[in-house]
Amino acid sequence: MVDNDANKKYLMNRAVILKKLDRIDELLTLPAIAMEVNGMLRDYNVSTKRLSDTIEKDQAIVSKILRLVNSAFFGFQSKINSIPHALMVLGFNSVRNAVMSISVIDALSMKNIPKGFDIREFWKHSIAVAVTSKRIAEKTRLYIPGDCFIGGLLHDIGKVILAQFFGDILIEILKLSHGEGRSFSSAEKEIIPIGHDQIGGYLAKQWHLTPDMVDAIRYHHSKAVRIYNIELLVVVHTADYIVNHFNPDFDQMIMTPELRKDAEDLMKKQLDTVNEWFPEVSDEIETACDFFLCEIRK
Ligand SMILES: [Fe+2]
Ligand SMILES: [Fe+2]
Repeated sequence: MVDNDANKKYLMNRAVILKKLDRIDELLTLPAIAMEVNGMLRDYNVSTKRLSDTIEKDQAIVSKILRLVNSAFFGFQSKINSIPHALMVLGFNSVRNAVMSISVIDALSMKNIPKGFDIREFWKHSIAVAVTSKRIAEKTRLYIPGDCFIGGLLHDIGKVILAQFFGDILIEILKLSHGEGRSFSSAEKEIIPIGHDQIGGYLAKQWHLTPDMVDAIRYHHSKAVRIYNIELLVVVHTADYIVNHFNPDFDQMIMTPELRKDAEDLMKKQLDTVNEWFPEVSDEIETACDFFLCEIRK
């Protein structure tokens, strides 16, 4: 990647940022259980028993998963009372996604968040994009809905890295964007040469997420020339746009022209009818926020 504007005075240059990211060991630690479960699900020979045993090593996660699968978010009539039972009823992917969602939100919500960055609002936005991405995938059948949920949940994860390890920089970006009524991304471009999208993509790679997922995070504000799989990226980008459009107080995002074109090719009907279907998704977003954010300080 080339820094296009060598004369620009950034608050911190690209090399320093990357060096600092490389030294942060904690970045590698997507909670061990999520790493393990994520790796396992790419291996088709894994048995339900091995997967249950792995999850059951962490009792805190077990109780949260059971609370989640029995919550209004999943809306099952009968009670699910164990991990093997959850796997049987919901399938591997849903359980993997539950483990990922719970552990990522837990791991990245408590530490070193600077005053001035509202982590609760951040997760509300991410959950809204997750639920909306999932809904778009269900409507269009462009990509696996559960993976779209995770893509939406993680798309802005680079902002949490900025918050935790580059707090002063993040505060400057927020000041500029709020002060001048500009989008986060455009303010960010003035302050640092590497954005939250690239930082998030870097993190996703460290976590050994799939190449599609890395690309969806890395390019959610700018499409690269060569993308391994365009569908997940377009779903997440469109969901991000829709959520911001309905809540302009959070960010003033505009669609990237190339991605808008892809979105129009792939999901014109959903874009044209968004005013009809989005209010319904809002209810689901609220239910998901109630569950995932109950432990995050107000
Ligand atoms: Fe973003
Ligand atoms: Fe976003």
